[in-house]
Amino acid sequence: MTALFSSDFPPSLDRPAPLLAIESSCDDTACAIMLPDGQICADRIYSQNEHAALGGVVPEIAARAHLAHLPDLVTQCLADAGYQLADMGAFAATTGPGLIGGLIVGSHYAKGLALSMNRPFIAINHIEAHALMATWPLMPGGGAPFPFLLLLVSGGHCQCVAVRNIGDYTLLGSTIDDAAGEAFDKVAKMLGLGWPGGPALEKLAREGDARKWDFPRPLIGREGCDFSFSGLKTAVSRVVSRFGAEALTRRDAADIAGSFQASVARVMADRVRNALSAFPEAKNIVVAGGVAANQAIRTSIEAVAQERGLPLFVPPVRYCTDNAVMIAWAAWQKIRAHPAADINDLNVAPRPRWPLDDMRPHPFAPG
Ligand code: KG4
Ligand code: ZN
Repeated sequence: MTALFSSDFPPSLDRPAPLLAIESSCDDTACAIMLPDGQICADRIYSQNEHAALGGVVPEIAARAHLAHLPDLVTQCLADAGYQLADMGAFAATTGPGLIGGLIVGSHYAKGLALSMNRPFIAINHIEAHALMATWPLMPGGGAPFPFLLLLVSGGHCQCVAVRNIGDYTLLGSTIDDAAGEAFDKVAKMLGLGWPGGPALEKLAREGDARKWDFPRPLIGREGCDFSFSGLKTAVSRVVSRFGAEALTRRDAADIAGSFQASVARVMADRVRNALSAFPEAKNIVVAGGVAANQAIRTSIEAVAQERGLPLFVPPVRYCTDNAVMIAWAAWQKIRAHPAADINDLNVAPRPRWPLDDMRPHPFAPG
């Protein structure tokens, strides 16, 4: 393997050669360039609007859009940072979990750059990157120290993870049907809001009475910290159809949105309480993912944090939704954790499912 690489492999942490990272696991095409100490030299995201009219992410369209936008995005990032490709010390990309088409596009693009520049490629687990982003030292207020409980709530994920250290994670619970953001998006659609519906639903909920409808709070009071949203969604859809989509006034829709959001917020708090009981070593709570932008959910987790006397850490939205800075930071952490080793994941295959507690490399099957 070493014959493939130049003599300054693996990249030195002392010499400030930056790393270029790509994220393409869902509907955001993102690229970032970062120095070993975490300083960002470039950070761009193209949020694919190709899906808006279709009411949800279409995997094939997402993969094509990544392919269409990635080359320009990388060129723009290099221009922003004032670097050439040859200045990069390493290249990294998300190789899972996510939509396989996008993972193939992004990871193979980064591998191609790594090969052509004679530099290593670092394969990054998307969930691990969300988790480690909280530790980024340049985060406003400083990075969160280990060990922490991560509540990851986005359009694709809904899980509680015990994060003990780099590479030491335990999945405590996850959704048995929809992700939290997916539930927000589907309910928003029932209420005639656009896609993605989470932000619009939260805005509408502010005008409504969150106690108007007593919607179910799935799994509340049950052991463990799994999530389920299908029963709640069905209950909302029954109420909406009782009105009839046309007869639904803005006020009715706001009451339904508020009541739905209140149910989700209470479910989240209950699940986080159980997760903390299963992981009493947690020194703080981190909430990440697009749904972490929701104020009702933040307030409800804040209450749990106060009950337990733990600090709550919510990265700014830019870094808690999908981005490439988190991929770059996770890659530097991986390099830092193996300073003397040959880190080269060129033979690591993209994986649509890549459980966080399986951090072993996953090479291509031979032949
Ligand atoms: O992390 P993210 O940008 O992408 C992934 O899905 O990985 O999360 C997007 C999800 C969407 O489902 C969106 O509706 C939801 O996060 N979301 C919200 C809010 N902002 C974004 N859900 C509820 N309230 C919000 N304010
Ligand atoms: Zn994500």
